[in-house]
Amino acid sequence: MGLSVVRHPGTDPAHCAPPMPAAPDALEQRLLDDPQLLDDIAGAVGGPFHVLFPERVAVNVNAFHAAFRAAGVDGFVYFGKKANKAACVARACAESGAGIDVASTGELIAALAQGVRGADLMVTGPAKSDELLWLAARHDALIAIDALDELDRLAALDLPARIVLRALPVGSASRFGLDPVELEQAVQAVRAPITLSGFSFHLSGYDAVARADHAVALVGHCLRARADGHPADMISIGGGFGVDYLDAESWARFRDSLSEKWFHGDAPGDGYYPYHFPVPGAAMLSAILEHNDLAALLRTNAIRLATEPGRALLDRAGSSVFRVQGVKTRTAHGEPYDILTVDGTSLSLSEQWFDSEYLPDPVLWPHRPGQLTPTCVGATTCLESDLLSRRRIPLPRRARVGDLLVYPNTAGYQMDSNESPFHELPLPPKVVLHERGDRLRWTLDATAR
Ligand SMILES: Cc1ncc(COP(=O)(O)O)c(C=O)c1O
Repeated sequence: MGLSVVRHPGTDPAHCAPPMPAAPDALEQRLLDDPQLLDDIAGAVGGPFHVLFPERVAVNVNAFHAAFRAAGVDGFVYFGKKANKAACVARACAESGAGIDVASTGELIAALAQGVRGADLMVTGPAKSDELLWLAARHDALIAIDALDELDRLAALDLPARIVLRALPVGSASRFGLDPVELEQAVQAVRAPITLSGFSFHLSGYDAVARADHAVALVGHCLRARADGHPADMISIGGGFGVDYLDAESWARFRDSLSEKWFHGDAPGDGYYPYHFPVPGAAMLSAILEHNDLAALLRTNAIRLATEPGRALLDRAGSSVFRVQGVKTRTAHGEPYDILTVDGTSLSLSEQWFDSEYLPDPVLWPHRPGQLTPTCVGATTCLESDLLSRRRIPLPRRARVGDLLVYPNTAGYQMDSNESPFHELPLPPKVVLHERGDRLRWTLDATAR
């Protein structure tokens, strides 16, 4: 929704952050424009909720597939399930030909339950339980081995299993993956009934070039392993495909003039996600494949490239909705602002728990005329720090009790990674929105039934 900041008497932009509107998905825009539906859902649910647009997940998966096709590369997408546990997301992956990267027995079972075949699962995570290794082997899932003792435990199961060895990238201090000596020992240790399918890594950060360079190193590992008689015909470059939440101008204005004065209480740390990401998702995959013609190297050596995107497949695939329960006016730097209290907690907007702030502005619903009002958003628990937005946001009018605040683009990691029944509050259910002809239909996600 476009917010236009109009200065008016009593509003000093010095105590209010600049506007940071998100570009909504078309379906979300229809939901925001509908005069009734959001209120109907909120009334039926009776508390905060998350709404998901699974058609958008399919669009994002298809964009990754198109990038592989355009580069002439045999590629595969495993959705990083930790980024959102909604059943409708796993179902959208199954329907659009993506696999799923799971890291627990719960995630594995949930993926199978939505129709993702075992052979399309990849099991990541450190020191996996014997139960998870056993289930993964039984379902023919690809297992990313993180440590030598984990490989020993898998071998002790004496089951056919497909594995990749997760490499600790050179120069990385990560606790995950095998260092070069361990990697070599692991290659030597793999024997039937275990098959060494290849190698993997996952980098923190969002650097395309670093991923392309590490991919080249993994191709080298594959060729050496082949010389030892292993198939080694795939590599996985993990996740970390960026999402473009904000336009360049909004992000630059925020980042370049960031002021303590914008925040209620202490400002968060400065470890913000790169909210403007010019080459996101599938375009970043294309950039990786183009760098030093990685695509040609993969083709020449008949190596499949797997990816494990979480956040990027959820771009514009959901929003989080809270009801305003209270409105107070306070003063900062001599100027008034409102503090809202909403009916949920910031545990349902996870970024707030990483000493950071979720930046795309919430949309105040319904749309009504009014005066721009600097507003921060508190939550319903007794914790002073429980704020959905510490910064004062230039809402286009004063919020009233009963209004809804719609936080956009929250499907990637914001919804459930920190959720908690603290205060015996119910967990916000997930609602699934579909377009059926000219109607919007909603249903509860299978995780909420
Ligand atoms: C091994 C692995 N793969 C994939 C991902 C997904 O990363 P992203 O959501 O940034 O794409 C993660 C995230 O932590 C991970 O640890």
